[in-house]
Amino acid sequence: MRYKSNALYLLLTALIFLLSACSLLPQMASSSSNPTPTTSQQNQSSKTKSITPAILTLRDAAGNSQKRSIYIGTAANIDAFNNDATYKRLLGQEFNMLVPENVMKMAVTHPSIDTFDYSQGDELVAFAKAHGMQVQGANLLWTSEVPAWITQGGYTRNELLGILKDYITNVVGHYKGQVQSWEVVNEPLDTNEYNQPSVWDQVIGPDYIDYAFRWAHEADPQAKLYINEFGVETSNDKANQYYSLVQSLVKQGTPISGVGFEDHLDVAQQYPTAQMIANMQRFAKLGMQVEITEADVMLQNSTAPMTQKLNQQAQLYANLVHDCQAVQACNAVTIWGFTDRYTWIPGYTHHPDQPLLFDTQYRKKPAYYAVKNALLK
Ligand code: G3I
Repeated sequence: MRYKSNALYLLLTALIFLLSACSLLPQMASSSSNPTPTTSQQNQSSKTKSITPAILTLRDAAGNSQKRSIYIGTAANIDAFNNDATYKRLLGQEFNMLVPENVMKMAVTHPSIDTFDYSQGDELVAFAKAHGMQVQGANLLWTSEVPAWITQGGYTRNELLGILKDYITNVVGHYKGQVQSWEVVNEPLDTNEYNQPSVWDQVIGPDYIDYAFRWAHEADPQAKLYINEFGVETSNDKANQYYSLVQSLVKQGTPISGVGFEDHLDVAQQYPTAQMIANMQRFAKLGMQVEITEADVMLQNSTAPMTQKLNQQAQLYANLVHDCQAVQACNAVTIWGFTDRYTWIPGYTHHPDQPLLFDTQYRKKPAYYAVKNALLK
């Protein structure tokens, strides 16, 4: 009798243990691996939703979306990563996609004609791997961050094409299989600090874009290859130019997979949701994946009281997540940093600002909760 009740007790304990382990599984999975937005995972996620414990982080929220899982990314600042333990902890805890803010740009990776430096990019890639995060490399070609040995090198078109091929083959080859997507050409519609087209445009001509995508594709055929641009979120003239450019690349067979919209927003401006969705949809109809690549929302141009600005900021962030989820081809929202402690905006505008999700003391702002709720919906 005593033996029987012991056995019954053991059986019950094992059953309780098994049940509680099952209820923890969805959260563990979303914290430690990517919520790849597949249908089977979505089905599984909606079945387990009722027993999922409290959603703790943004990546948990992304993995438990009622609608569709998308990646939630952030730009990673290497100085903060190396010197600020709270920053590093939140980076791995909150996000499931990492975009190196600066250390994969050409001036860093190819500082002289016979040197490649991957040391800082490698640190971020190793961290991302250890934390189950995707990596999007940013960026291979831009008007800025081109090393002086190129801008002042006086190269001919053929020489620069040779340099370009060697550079792209080397960098994309180095990260083959570790960087899932690349921003191959960044801001192709813009001029450099001297108000001129990039050295690539000036010396090679507009076909540098096609060459860059082809060589990146040869170096890592599995990597998704993006073009990226700012100020093209609504259906304005620049967005129309962007559309024509992408349309011609697709037509000529350039191996481009997707289109990035930076979304550096401002609470003092209007961003009609329907227009932003329609704008992304037309690129999707060309067969492109789309992504929001550098979201932030600056406050400094509005004279409204701070509480009101923070709430408007939260609403704009929520709209971005909503817009991405509304477009089937949109698979990621990346925010350009996550704490107001480290943001490019004050350095650029020479005015303080608070454009991100956590304040300078790592307190969660209304924008943080807005992004989390929007990801869950
Ligand atoms: O590397 C030097 C470092 O040696 C020096 O100690 C330090 C002192 O200021 O400057 C460092 O370089 C700065 C670099 O950021 C790293 O902090 C550059 O001066 C500064 O211009 C650079 O700014 C970056 C900017 O791109 C230009 O590369 C911003 O952090 C980065 O947020 C910004 O990101 C761009 C995207 O790549 C493309 N879209 C627009 C976006 C905002 O401009």
